[in-house]
Parts: sequence; structure tokens; C-alpha cells
Amino acid sequence: MPNFERVASVAEAREASPQVVRVGGRTVGLFHHEGAFYAIDNRCPHMGFPLSDGSVEDGVLTCPWHHARFELSGGDTFDPFADDVTTFPVEVRGGEVYVDPDPERETDPATHWRARLEHGLRESLSLVIDKAVIGLDDAGVDPAVSLRIGATFGTEYRADGWGSGLTTLSAMATLLPALRPADRRRALAVGLGAVADDCAGEPPFFVQDPLSASGVSADRLVEWFRETIEVRDADGAERVVRAAIRAGLDDADLAAMFVAAATDHRYLDAGHRLDFVNKAFELLDRIGWDHADAVLPSLVPGLAAAERAEERSSWRQPVDVAALVEAASDDLPALFATGEGEPWTEPADFVDRLLGDDPHDIVDALTEAVVSGATSVQLASAVADAAARRVAQFGTANEFRDWNTVHHTYTYANATCGLAARTDVPEMYRAVLDGAMSVYLDRFLNTPPIPLPDPDGDRDPDAALDDLLETFEVEADETVGRAGRHAAEYLASGGDPDRLKRKLGEVLLREDAGFHPRQNVEAAFTRYDAADDEGRGRVHLVATARYLAAHTPTRREGEQTFRIAERLNRGEAIHEG
Ligand code: FES
Repeated sequence: MPNFERVASVAEAREASPQVVRVGGRTVGLFHHEGAFYAIDNRCPHMGFPLSDGSVEDGVLTCPWHHARFELSGGDTFDPFADDVTTFPVEVRGGEVYVDPDPERETDPATHWRARLEHGLRESLSLVIDKAVIGLDDAGVDPAVSLRIGATFGTEYRADGWGSGLTTLSAMATLLPALRPADRRRALAVGLGAVADDCAGEPPFFVQDPLSASGVSADRLVEWFRETIEVRDADGAERVVRAAIRAGLDDADLAAMFVAAATDHRYLDAGHRLDFVNKAFELLDRIGWDHADAVLPSLVPGLAAAERAEERSSWRQPVDVAALVEAASDDLPALFATGEGEPWTEPADFVDRLLGDDPHDIVDALTEAVVSGATSVQLASAVADAAARRVAQFGTANEFRDWNTVHHTYTYANATCGLAARTDVPEMYRAVLDGAMSVYLDRFLNTPPIPLPDPDGDRDPDAALDDLLETFEVEADETVGRAGRHAAEYLASGGDPDRLKRKLGEVLLREDAGFHPRQNVEAAFTRYDAADDEGRGRVHLVATARYLAAHTPTRREGEQTFRIAERLNRGEAIHEG
């Protein structure tokens, strides 16, 4: 039902144009132009500047601030960065001007905001993406819808395939349950913004058809996939992946296929490729495996082109750790068969042994465990604990960029855990061995090792948490150590780990944190939640608190844009006019 309200006499509206009127709780700009009246939301959809201060010419309203232009009758913008402005129906009756402040819209809010999200992704406009995510959330739309839109866009519009953007989106999706409700949409906006950034200016992903052969066994498909990746034939590998999906391989079979190809060479692209595989599988768990045909082929270009760690001197000299892994891998099927079904209990010093200075002994520790029945899940978890220690004991006298080195090992180890939970094929143990060798190679970054904090647990948890949060506000090396100590104090004093995670998530999302801190926090939460032993799990939260402290504060530009988007969607005035 139209609900027109009188706003002015015709004479007054002509005389005062442009005029600001309040109607239905809204601030509306009333324009008289070329003999007609137009009513629009007076807040510029870009940054909220009063459009009544703008100028009108030939049916086009120009905002005076950043000069965005809007078609006056429908509100469509000529400048996509600004977004369209809302318009309202106007009627003239008996010498009076009436405006309907709440007209029935042609599209429901969910449909409207989905379209806006797709537009924001195409144009890489963070404000439009943020507003769309908030609008979808306010409309009660399941976050999986935004994730699906992001996954579809990210896999279609990047010729290089799966990258840091989609990885960030998947990591943010994993974080959602640990976050405050108010931060969940921030996380979605961060993930979707990262996808848009990653695709901006990139050529699209041209799809290969699946191989048409039918009745091919899963084993043969795996072999074809490995052979095509081996010779860096991305097109052929993509056709095999599509054929495997069409043949009905389930997620465990597909995980086995990707793990095999991703571990035929060592630690691809500093571990990123296996992490991306894991993140793609995790995203499919959330958006539905019916999207496998879009998501999994996007992993192929990166796998085919990846740098193989055996090509790096650090994996060859002074100890040829690549050869160590390859020699152990040759024995894996026999070792695996010997230990299969045996219960293995992790020795008390196992993680310390993985942190040792002798790579031969580290490989021995792992292969002995395999013979004794250790599963890849158990071994991957132990390597991830060792990798967390490298972060938790990272010395700030190192070069700042060396944080990346321990971080890469850590996220790789976390990915190994995720994939080991899907498949226990022998190749999974190669991934564990690669992770262990990377932990070994990172040992100089713990020289001397910063002691792990071991507090008494007699602090007020609230005070420890306040102290921790302060460390994220100061840019100084010494805050890194303090952050780890206060996180440990909080937990040792009985502080609620879920509250700590919510706070760390809040800090992460308000900062322009970038790819690595976002990965790091997500990996730490995942490993903490998966830990059998709470005390051992704590190391992960201590490690990520230190990592965050090293990477904060930032300018918080993204947070500022998000807050403007929230205020615009709520209908708040941002600039009076
Ligand atoms: S163009 Fe209007 S506020 Fe930026």
C-alpha cells in the first residue's frame, strides 16, 4: 500500500529546491528539475555526504564530495564506486507535493543484496561488498549464500585459479563459529573482499571439458592426474579432475588424488599449494559438494606451476632433506602395512624430538611411529604442535619477514591435519614428512628459543586479557613477548578460551591484517579445538597472540569502510545536511 506523506507545497518545493525534508523517519532530498519533482535518500551512498548540496544538470545529480553522478529519477549511478542511491515515489496533488518513504520494492532485500554483492565483486568495491554482506545478514540470509557467491566468482574470474583470496574466504568461513555475532559479517566481508582483490584485473578461468572416457577406475584417474601435474600440463590435469568428479569420486577419493599429486614433489610453493587444497575442501564442506566441479579445477593451475622445494638450495644444502623425505617415502607402503591397525601412543618427548637438530633423527622418529601404527592424523598433529612452537618461540631479533617462514610451515602443518582427517593414503605421510623437514629448516629462527611462558595461574583473567589487548595497540617488538605471556596467563588463570578466541578474532577483523595473520589465527583456533590435551592446545593460542602482536596495529582502513557501510545500511546520517 502506498503511504504518501505531504512534504511541501508545490510553490515552496520549487522555490527551495533542492530541499531537505524528513519523511517516514528518513532524510530525503527533494529536487525540482525540468518541471518535475524527485525524492532521493539525501545521504550519498558512497560516504553519506548530503546530496542536497550537489548539483543537477540534464537529469544527472552530481555529489559535490567525490563527484559521483546519479540519474535523478531512478538513482542509478554512473560511477560504480559510489553504489546506486535510493529514490522515493513523488506525487503532486492539489498544489501539494507528497512522497512515499517506504514504497514496495520490485525485488526483495535478499535478491537485491545478492545482486549488489555480485556487482561489488565484479567491480572490486569494498564498500559495496560490505553493504551487501550487511544487507544479506539483516535479511536473515544464511552465510553459505555469500560464501557460494564468492566461491563461484573467485573460481570463474581468475585464470591462475585458487589463490590467497579464496583461501581467505575459506579461512573466514571456518572462523565464523568462534566469533562474536557482530564480527561474523565482518569476517564474511573480509573474505569476499579478498576474493575481489585477488580477481581484480585478472583474465577469467577458461574451463576445459571433462575427459569423455567412462568406466575409468579411480586408481587410473589418480595416476593420470599425477602424470599431468608432473609434466605441468594444467589443461590435461583439469580434464582429469572434471572426469573424476563426473565419475562420482567422493571427497575422500578426491582428497587422496590431490594429496598424491601435491606431494609427488616437496613442499610446493612454500607449502601454499597443499594449504590451498585443504582450504578448497573445507569451503566445499560449507557451500556443498555440488560445487566441486567449480572449485576443485581451480586448484590445478597452481599445482602444475608450483615451485618444487627440491629445486631450492635450502632443501638440498648442507643436508639434502628432500632426498631424505624421498628415501623415507619409498619405504612408506611397507612401513604403513607393518603398522596398520596397531595402536600408537605418542611418546612424551615426541614433539621435542621433531624440534631437534638432526633431520635424520626426525625422519627416523616419524618412520618408527608409522611402523608402530601411528596414523597420519596423529603424526600431522604432532608436526603441527612442533610448528606452533616455532611461532611461539620465534625470536624478534630475526628479520621481520622471517615470521612468514615459520608461518608457512605452521599453516602447511595445519593443512596436513585437515587432509589427514579425510584420507589415510600412504602419500599423506609424505605431507607429514615435508612438514617435519620444514620445521627442521626453521630451527635457526628459534635461536636462542624464546622460552614458552609458564605462568602460575594466579592472575585475574580479566586483567590478563586487558593487558593482552593493549599489546595489539602498540607497534614495538617487546609487545610480542608480552602478548604470548598475557595469553598464557589468561588461560592458566582459568580464563575462558572461547572468550579469548572471540577477542583475538575481534582484533584480527578490525585490522588490515592481510593474508598471513588471517591464516595464522584460523589455523591456531583449528588446532586448539582439535587438541586432545588442553595444555598442548594452548601453545597454538599463545603462538597466534604473538603473531598478531607482531602484525598490529594497522591503519584499519577496512574497518572504517565497514563501519560506514553499517551506518549507511542502518539509515544513519553520516554528515549532516
Ligand atoms: S561521492 Fe558522494 S560522498 Fe563520495
